[in-house]
Amino acid sequence: MHNVVISGTGLYTPANSISNEELVQSFNTYVAQFNSDNAAAIESGEVQALTESSAAFIEKASGIKSRFVMDKDGILDPQRMKPRLPERANDEWSILCQMGAAAAEQALQRAGKTAADIDGVIVACSNLQRAYPAISIEIQAALGVQGFGFDMNVACSSATFGIQAASNSVQLGQARAVLVISPEICTGHLNFRDRDSHFIFGDAATAVVVERADLATSPYQFDILGTKLLTQFSNSIRNNFGFLNRAAEEGVGAPDKLFVQEGRKVFREVCPMVAELVGKHLEETGLNVSDVQRFWLHQANLSMNHLIVKKLLGREASVEEAPVILDTYANTSSAGSVIAFHTYQDDLPKGSLGVLSSFGAGYSIGSVILRKR
Ligand code: COA
Repeated sequence: MHNVVISGTGLYTPANSISNEELVQSFNTYVAQFNSDNAAAIESGEVQALTESSAAFIEKASGIKSRFVMDKDGILDPQRMKPRLPERANDEWSILCQMGAAAAEQALQRAGKTAADIDGVIVACSNLQRAYPAISIEIQAALGVQGFGFDMNVACSSATFGIQAASNSVQLGQARAVLVISPEICTGHLNFRDRDSHFIFGDAATAVVVERADLATSPYQFDILGTKLLTQFSNSIRNNFGFLNRAAEEGVGAPDKLFVQEGRKVFREVCPMVAELVGKHLEETGLNVSDVQRFWLHQANLSMNHLIVKKLLGREASVEEAPVILDTYANTSSAGSVIAFHTYQDDLPKGSLGVLSSFGAGYSIGSVILRKR
């Protein structure tokens, strides 16, 4: 059995960002147009008038101020309200492959490794753009990595579940190092006409090099002290898009083929589950919550993260203890906690303890305990 480290992380951030104000202006233009087009039906009670969104509400309810996106114009066009991402020929790299490879290149560079040092690629994310061939195998080809690749989806928790799978492979000697890549174009499945959720997501990609400790040479190493995962079935976050949609014509294009959630319920149910899992994981590893210098949490909602850390620590956490990236990235699904980890790790002294934790649809919750080397 080998000891395992994370020896490098990478981040790809799209060039364009949309502020709450820009998003709300587009949404409210759509609302005004809809209400005007349907004035008679609204008047007679056949159709319900739509209500405007508000930038102040979005920031207060979620902590989100802006989000990076792969296509800004298509999303903000009130006639369209979805990204415009043209199809590519089969002999071009796919857009998900490009994002993932860009993040992976940075992770390799920080790890001081090349493609020749990697034996596997796991693409772990919520939003896979096609059924097959696996995006991971395409990224292998783009980077020149030998060995194996597979895709996996555990929604927002995909990255921590991927890190556990990679860590197990490395521990058992099946691979010297594995790249865990989370490319997320969340705007592809976001209903920009739904007032309750149009502000939630953004796009980004992350990558993590999981490597045998005795082979690692980078200055950015973290020992993986343990991983712990939990899943419990829930319908509170759901997306019914899938290959059987065409076999039920009545449902094609319906709103449930995009992201749908009961936000309040998710908030109420998930926070205690995360605090309990992380607390138990630390205890089983022989550590105290007070030993942890940093919590890199899933980035969906600021109040949610405050509540989880408060449950764990018994007091409010400082922003150094639980860093925030959702203000500028919004929820980037599986990439979120890794963006926080990538952005807020270099200041930690040797020996510092941190917890990387994700949570999301399923429900699915992951905890990875890390110690800076
Ligand atoms: N603009 C203005 N008002 C809005 C609005 C918008 N865009 N969307 C909803 N509102 C209104 C609602 O109509 C409601 O009004 P009412 O009180 O008059 O009925 C009020 O704001 C509160 O709505 P609610 O949906 O209960 O808001 P919330 O405080 O729960 O915040 C979320 C919504 C989505 C930000 C929050 O529930 C959340 O983030 N939950 C966790 C989600 C999560 O982590 N999901 C994981 C996904 S991976």
